[in-house]
Amino acid sequence: MAKSDNINDIIDHVLYSQEDIQEMCKRLGKQLTEDYAGKDPLVVGVLKGAVFFMTDLVRQMDVKMQNDFMDVSSYGDGFESSGKVRLDIDVQADVKDRDVLLVEDIVDTGHTLKFMKDLLTERGAKSVKCCALLNKTERREDDVVVDYYGAKVANEFVVGYGLDYLNEYRNIPFIGVLKPEVIQANLNR
Ligand code: XMP
Ligand code: MG
Repeated sequence: MAKSDNINDIIDHVLYSQEDIQEMCKRLGKQLTEDYAGKDPLVVGVLKGAVFFMTDLVRQMDVKMQNDFMDVSSYGDGFESSGKVRLDIDVQADVKDRDVLLVEDIVDTGHTLKFMKDLLTERGAKSVKCCALLNKTERREDDVVVDYYGAKVANEFVVGYGLDYLNEYRNIPFIGVLKPEVIQANLNR
C-alpha cells in the first residue's frame, strides 16, 4: 500500500481519543502538582515524540518549573529496538541537585529510559523520575521504573499525538493502532 493522506487507510482503530488524552493529562497533572510542590523541577521532554504530550501535561501542572529537551535514539530502522541508545541532543540546563522529570511518549523495552535516568543520575540530579503517556509493559527488557503514566498499552504499534512510524503520523490528534499492512508494505519495499 502506498503512503496515504487518508487516516482510515493507516489506522486500524482508535485506542485513545483526544478527550481520553486530555483526561490523562489532567489526572497526571494533578498528581504531579502535588508531588512536585515546592521542588522547582526541571521538566525535560524527550524529542521528538513527547513534545505533543509535554505541552498539554505541563499546562496541567500548577508548579514553578523550568523546561528543557533532550533527544535520544534507539530505533535504528523505525520499528525494532536495536538495544543501543545514543544521545543526539543534550539538555542545556545543569541537572546537578535538580529534581528532574522526564516526559516520554511511550516506554517500550525501557532501554531509552534507563539510559537517560542513568546519565542524569551520574550528573548529580537529586531525583530523576519519568512521566510517560503510554507504558508498553509486556516488552520491558530493562528493570526501570515508569513513575507516572497515562495508560498501559498492549504490544501493538501505535501512532498519533507525537508517536510516529518512520517519522510520520505524529500530527494525528488521537492515538491509534497502525494497520499491519502499512508496516508490511514498508518491509516489502
Ligand atoms: P524503548 O524500547 O527504549 O523505546 O523503551 C522507547 C521509544 O521507542 C519508540 N516506540 C514507539 N513509537 N509507537 C511509536 O510510535 C510505538 O508503538 C512505539 N513503541 C516504542 C518511541 O520513540 C519511544 O520513545
Ligand atoms: Mg521516543
